[in-house]
Amino acid sequence: HSCGISSPSPRGAMPVQYVTYDGIKFPPAYNSEHSLSFAHNEFLARDDDIFNVTYPKSGTVWMTEILSLIRSHGCPSWNRAVLNSDRMPWFSTHLGLESALSYPPPRLLTCHLPRHIFPKSFSHSSAKVIYTVRNPRDVVVSYYYFSKMCNSYEDPTSFEQFLRDFLNGELPHGSWFEHVRGWMEMKDAQNFFFITYEELKQDLHSSVRRLCQFLGQDLDDDAVSSVVQNASFTAMQENPMCSSILLPADIMDQTKGQFLRKGICGDWENHFTVAQSETFDRIYQDRMQGLNVTFPWDNH
Ligand code: A3P
Repeated sequence: HSCGISSPSPRGAMPVQYVTYDGIKFPPAYNSEHSLSFAHNEFLARDDDIFNVTYPKSGTVWMTEILSLIRSHGCPSWNRAVLNSDRMPWFSTHLGLESALSYPPPRLLTCHLPRHIFPKSFSHSSAKVIYTVRNPRDVVVSYYYFSKMCNSYEDPTSFEQFLRDFLNGELPHGSWFEHVRGWMEMKDAQNFFFITYEELKQDLHSSVRRLCQFLGQDLDDDAVSSVVQNASFTAMQENPMCSSILLPADIMDQTKGQFLRKGICGDWENHFTVAQSETFDRIYQDRMQGLNVTFPWDNH
């Protein structure tokens, strides 16, 4: 291991050695050039695979809860007994690949991969992708706090700098703009479903219904209500199998924050200055040009 995650030196004393693949930085814990290259070039997508794909901090773990509850027809026992990363393995990491390969199909899988590093085999399959997008302003705020507590990310020097890095596409997992643009090219494909964090927040019930329809899963009203109830922010906070409190302390320092931090829309307004907001808008408009999609946050 060159990642130094088990190093006794205090946090911040040593810069994090990110793994680089195809010009994109990845956090070192669990990722390697080999695991990423395997995911990209060799991983075999099955026709019945269901992929949960996101840019970090967009609602990945929330979608994991929703999808595993749908799989269980609303019954929460699987979600309460099994760690989220075992229910929906991160197949582009070492550990995740092992569980993905031994997962009885149909598999539920997770990743933050941009479209151009996603398994090549996917293009010739009818595997399904669920892509969750979140207001990038809230993403950057959530990512900032997450980077402070997660030891495989460099400690942000300031919010100002972190925001600059985000806008320049220099944070781990690459540029949000490229991620969203790359995946949204699939928006009309039958095996692609995109939803926003904001829609999940606004109406989880109908979001779950739409997801069920896309997945061909027939859930009655009670089952949908149980999915909604068990995937709520509070229910997730109470479930150690998804709140991340079980992650080892040398990966996630629980004294520095909470993974399930606020779970709201619009927290960016408490963090951005007027100047930062204007810069953001300008770059956003420029980078999103030509993408014929209107997200909920575009109307404000
Ligand atoms: P905040 O930091 O804004 O609170 P990811 O899983 O992609 O890393 O995203 C984490 C973000 O999703 C965090 O955002 C977290 O609180 C939020 N989240 C997770 N579960 C949620 C839920 N049930 N309802 C609302 N937000 C949720």
